[in-house]
Formats: sequence, C-alpha cells, structure tokens
Amino acid sequence: MNGAVLAMPAIAILVLAGCGRVEDTAEAVADTAGGADTTVSEPATGSCDADKPGAELTGEEALAIYECLKPSMLAGYSAGSKGWIPPERVADYRGWVPASSIPGAPGYHAGRFLFTYVNETGAAEYLRYADENVTMPAGSLIAKETFSVSDDGMAKAGPLFFMEKTPAGTSPATGDWYYYAVAPNGSPMAIDVMAACNECHMVNFGYRDSLGYPIGEARISR
Ligand code: HEC
Repeated sequence: MNGAVLAMPAIAILVLAGCGRVEDTAEAVADTAGGADTTVSEPATGSCDADKPGAELTGEEALAIYECLKPSMLAGYSAGSKGWIPPERVADYRGWVPASSIPGAPGYHAGRFLFTYVNETGAAEYLRYADENVTMPAGSLIAKETFSVSDDGMAKAGPLFFMEKTPAGTSPATGDWYYYAVAPNGSPMAIDVMAACNECHMVNFGYRDSLGYPIGEARISR
C-alpha cells in the first residue's frame, strides 16, 4: 500500500524529465540567475562559456568547450538512480572508442553539439562509416554526448543518448536497436522511443543499420 503511494512522485518526475521540462526549467533558472551580462569572472557556472554564439564556433573552439565541460557532464549523467538503464553504461562509455574528433553540430538532436563513443564490439563496423552492407554486431553500444552553446555563449550539457544492438529478432520494429537517454542531471528519460528516436533513425538511415554517423569533418576512422 505504502509502496504504491510512494511510487507516484517518482513516476511524475520521470515523465517530466521525458518531456524535457526539467531541462527547460533548469535553463530558465540559469537564464534568470546568470542574466545577459554575466562575465567570465563568475566562477561557479560561467567557466566553460564561449565569447561568441554557439553557431559561430569553429571545431577547435567547440572542442575546447567540450574538454572544459567533460568532468561536470559526466558527474551530472552519473548522479542518482538510472532506473531501467544499466548503470554500467554511464560508468563505462568514456572508456569506449571515440568516433568524433570534434563535437559536430549537424542540426539534429535539437541543434546541440554531439560527441560519439562506440564500444569495442561495434567499433570496427561503426568506424567504417559505410553506406552499404552495414551490420552492427549484437552487443554493440554507442553513446552520444550532447551540449549546447547559446547565442550569448552559455555552454550547457544536454542529454546523453545511447543505442544498443540486441540479438537478431529481439526488436524487429527498431532493427534490433534499443534506444535510451539520460538527462543532464542523471535521470533516465522516459521517452516514446518509437516516435522520439526510431522513426528518425530508421526512416533516414535504415539502409545503413539506422546509423546517423558524425558529420564528415568530425569523424575518426581506424
Ligand atoms: C531528427 C532525427 C533524429 C532523432 C529524432 C534522433 N536522432 Fe539520434 N541521430 C541522428 C543523427 C543525424 C545522428 C548522427 C549525428 C552526428 O553524430 O553528427 C544521430 C546519432 C545518434 C547516435 C550515435 C549513433 C549514430 O547513429 O551515429 C545515438 C546513440 C543516437 N543518435 C541516439 C538517439 C536516441 C536515443 C534518440 C531518441 C531519444 C535519437 N537518437 C533521436 C538523428 C536523430
């Protein structure tokens, strides 16, 4: 009885996170707190910010911001319970093979900068960035970190996205991919993966095992 009552707030929080409202609220709070004229002398939050709009950053500049954000991003993603997402995913992914040389901002994934890692099982196939005859082996794991840099240069972590290739026949509707995401504050994001992930990945990239790949200048090959 108590358990059922106690479960309610947890579900409400998950749904909020899934709609992105937790993030929006955080953004609103940060905007209000920071104000437009916050200078780099603010030590707590502004230390990774750019001196120009995110859209004007070069690859090297975006990389410098990513290097600065890396520790706080991982701390955020690691916080709290991961729910249905295996916690070792978040613990492990930074040790996987980087597939990006610079954070690419191709406009997908809400216009954020993207940085991709792939585990050893999937690395050889993924890093070919092939358009034909792509078959990622079962057990492949891909993580995509995201961050945004606003028009006034404010750098902020976005969600951490995962794709996991399951054994053939596990999930035919998604090409045997599992999709999941962790919010910047570490909460598992309650999303309708068919509509929010699979539709874009499968419709646009179904001919290459649903893989989007980093933009050309951001790719690292083997
Ligand atoms: C509007 C289209 C779109 C939607 C929706 C979308 N993605 Fe992606 N995704 C892409 C594109 C394009 C790339 C490659 C972008 C890049 O790295 O520059 C990508 C890359 C990825 C990657 C790296 C592997 C790859 O395909 O190269 C992961 C992991 C990922 N997305 C997970 C997700 C998850 C989880 C969701 C749902 C919450 C999602 N995506 C929703 C378009 C989309």
